[in-house]
Amino acid sequence: MSKQFDVIVIGGGPGGYIAAIRAAQLGFNTACIDEWKNEKGGPAPGGTCTNVGCIPSKALLQSSEHFNHANHHFAEHGITATGVSMDVAKMLARKNTVVKQNNDGILYLFKKNKISFFHGRGSFAKAVDGGYEIKVAGAAEEVITGKHIIVATGSNARALPGTPFDEVNVLSNDGALNIGAVPKKLGLIGSGVIGLEMGSVWKRLGADVTILEGLPVFLGAVDEQVAKEAHKAFTKQGLKIELGVKVGEIKNGKKGVSVAYTNAKGEAQTLDVDKLIISIGRVPNTIGLNTEAVGLALDERGAIVVDGDCKTNLPGVWAVGDVVRGPMLAHKAEEEGVAVAERIAGQHGHVNFNTVPWVIYTSPEIAWVGRTEQQLKADGVAYKAGSFPFLANGRARALGDTTGFVKFLADAKTDEILGVHIVGPQASELISEAVVAMEFKASAEDIARICHAHPSLSEATKEAALAVDKRTLNF
Ligand code: FAD
Ligand code: NAI
Repeated sequence: MSKQFDVIVIGGGPGGYIAAIRAAQLGFNTACIDEWKNEKGGPAPGGTCTNVGCIPSKALLQSSEHFNHANHHFAEHGITATGVSMDVAKMLARKNTVVKQNNDGILYLFKKNKISFFHGRGSFAKAVDGGYEIKVAGAAEEVITGKHIIVATGSNARALPGTPFDEVNVLSNDGALNIGAVPKKLGLIGSGVIGLEMGSVWKRLGADVTILEGLPVFLGAVDEQVAKEAHKAFTKQGLKIELGVKVGEIKNGKKGVSVAYTNAKGEAQTLDVDKLIISIGRVPNTIGLNTEAVGLALDERGAIVVDGDCKTNLPGVWAVGDVVRGPMLAHKAEEEGVAVAERIAGQHGHVNFNTVPWVIYTSPEIAWVGRTEQQLKADGVAYKAGSFPFLANGRARALGDTTGFVKFLADAKTDEILGVHIVGPQASELISEAVVAMEFKASAEDIARICHAHPSLSEATKEAALAVDKRTLNF
C-alpha cells in the first residue's frame, strides 16, 4: 500500500515549505515534494526564492554595494582604500554559501516538524476515494496518497519568442546570478524588478549597463513621484534605461549578443553586448504536474485557477504562490501557504492582498504598500498627501545617504492611510511600519502621534505622516 498523508505539498519554495510547516504544526501528517537539485544532485529546497531569486540576488546586491562604498564613499569618511578589487569567483562562492545555508535550514525545519520530504518530481496520478495519488519521480519512483494536495510549483522566467536562454550569453535570472566575470557590456530587456536589481549589481561592479524597456513609462506600477526620483538616481549612477523600445531580432553569436530594436522615436538601433539578461516577467510553472490526469483547471496564462481562498476546481486540491494569480512575491506565497493549511484545519486562514508590501532592493531602495497617487486619482478617491525628504533626516545625513523621501496618502475625510511609498535608504525595513499601520486601519494622525527613536530613518515616516496635516517639524 502507498504511504498515506493528510497533506501533500508539491513544491518546496516559500509557498510550499511554509505551507508544509504550518500543516505539520496543525497536527497533519505532512509530506513535501521538491525536485530542485544542488550541484551534487542532492536536494536544495527553497525554490526559486532560495536558489535563484530573493536570497542570491540580495547576496550579490550586498557584495556589490560594499564594493561601491569602498570605491566611492569611504573617502568622505576619511578612509583610504587603495587597490580595491572584486574577486567575482569569491563573491559567487559566498552567494552559493548563503544559498546552501538556507537550503540546509529548510531541510532542518522539515525534520524538526516531522515532515516527510521527498526529493523528486511530483505529479498527479489519479483521484482516489477521499484523496489523490501522487507519483514521485526521484532516485526511485513511488506513489504516495494525500487527502489534501497543495500545489506550490512556482514560476519560470519568460523567454522572448525565438530567443531561448542558453545561460551563457542569453541569461534568465539563473544565469544572471552566475556571471563568472564582470561583462564589459551588459544588456537587459525589461526594466522591472529583476532588470533593476541585476542591472545595479553588474553596474556597481563596472559593467556598462543598458536596459531596454518596452513601456513608455518607467516603473508604471510604482507611485509616479517615486518612479521619477528613482529614475533620476539610477541615471545618475550611470544605468542607461531606454523606454518605449520595440525589441526585434536578437543574434546570439560567439562574441556576444546583438539586439536590434526600435527606440521611442521610431529609429532603428542595435545594442551589442557581451551578455544579455532577459527579465520580462515570469510564467506559472505546471510543467510535469500532469494536471490533465485529474482535470485541474488552468487559465490562459497557464496559472492554476483558484478562488480567493486558494481552492482549485477540484475538492481537496489547493494552489498557492507564483503558480496562481496575484503578485509573484515570496511573502505573498508564504501567506497563502499558511492560510491554506489553516483552512484545511477548519480555521479562518487570512491573506490581505491590500497590504502586501513590494520592495525593490536597488540603491535607493524602493518600497510601497497600498495604492499609488495615480491609482487614487483614477479611482476618484479624495485623498491628502504628505511627504518628507531624507535630506532633512539627521540619521540619513549621518549615514551619508539622503536620496529620496517617504510619502503618505491618506483618505481626505477619515485620514485612514491608503498608501505609503518610500524611495531611499532602508526602505525595505521602513515599509513594515506602514504595513502594520494599514493592517490596523491606522490614520496618518496615529503615526504622527507615535514616538519614533531619534536619530532614526523612521522619523522620516513620522514626519511624512505629519506632512499629511501640513505640520512637519523638521522641514
Ligand atoms: P518557487 O519558489 O518557484 O518554488 C517552487 C518549487 O517547486 C521549486 O523548488 C521547484 O523546483 C518545485 N517544483 C516545481 N514543479 C515541481 C514538481 N512537479 N514536483 C516537485 N517540485 C516541483 N520575491 C520577493 O518577495 N522578494 C524578493 O526579493 C524577490 N527576489 C527575486 C529575485 C529574482 C531574481 C527572482 C527570479 C524572483 C524573486 N522574487 C522575490 C520572487 C520569488 O522568488 C517568488 O515569488 C517565490 O519564489 C514564489 O514562491 P513559490 O513557492 O510559489 O515558488
Ligand atoms: P517585471 O514584471 O517586474 O518586469 C518586466 C518588465 O519587462 C516590465 O517593465 C515590462 O514592461 C518589460 N517587458 C515585458 N516584455 C518586454 C519586451 N518584449 N520588451 C521590452 N520590455 C518588456 O518582471 P521581472 O523583472 O522579470 O521579475 C519577475 C517577477 O519576479 C517580478 O514581477 C516580481 O514579482 C518578482 N521579483 C521580485 C523581486 C523583489 O520583490 N524585490 C525581485 C525580482 C523579482
